[in-house]
Amino acid sequence: MTRLHVVSAATRPTSSGRPLARWVVDEARAHGAFEVTPVDLAEIALPFLDEPEYASTGNYAHAHTREWSALVDSADAFVFVLPMYNGSFTAPFKNAIDFLYREWQGKPVGLVSYSAGATGGAPAAEMLLPVLTRLGMLPAGRSVAVPGINALVGAEGFAPTEGLAGELAGVFEDIAALAKEPAAA
Ligand SMILES: Cc1cc2nc3c(=O)[nH]c(=O)nc-3n(C[C@H](O)[C@H](O)[C@H](O)COP(=O)(O)O)c2cc1C
Repeated sequence: MTRLHVVSAATRPTSSGRPLARWVVDEARAHGAFEVTPVDLAEIALPFLDEPEYASTGNYAHAHTREWSALVDSADAFVFVLPMYNGSFTAPFKNAIDFLYREWQGKPVGLVSYSAGATGGAPAAEMLLPVLTRLGMLPAGRSVAVPGINALVGAEGFAPTEGLAGELAGVFEDIAALAKEPAAA
């Protein structure tokens, strides 16, 4: 079974995306193709990149990096649930990505973006794609953008709009297909 880590990329304590990420985790489990691990970047609580050596060396001086490395290493594929800040992905998320290198390589990744406004964070997802391909990740062809996030979260958690579960299933299908392809030699 593909080990899928669903990463909630938000770090604000009052994040509206956290309930969305929990819903993505539930949907991924229901899908059936994945062994799902939720990852909350706020709990990982990385500092700004403080490793003396490049991530590409794999020589990590700090325990927080080794723990983050082991967690990312243990995944076959990812879904990133990411907020949009000022038209782009967030600084803490890019920082967490930059901490590692080999651990990301060759792994499928699906994007679920969200924002308060009408775009659903699609521009943030678009901007992240070159970063992910640069790292040798395999982005899913389909992605999900969730507009008006604040109106969709409440005491009951995240309330998906019509069609969203189907869109997310498309991302899962893409990830499952990419995970099946043999790694390049
Ligand atoms: C620093 C910052 C910048 C934001 N910029 C945008 C933006 O450009 N467009 C938008 O629609 N919403 C913007 N928002 C609203 C967020 O998309 C919305 O608050 C979302 O819930 C943020 O994710 P989070 O709750 O997980 O932190 C911004 C929020 C923050 C905190």
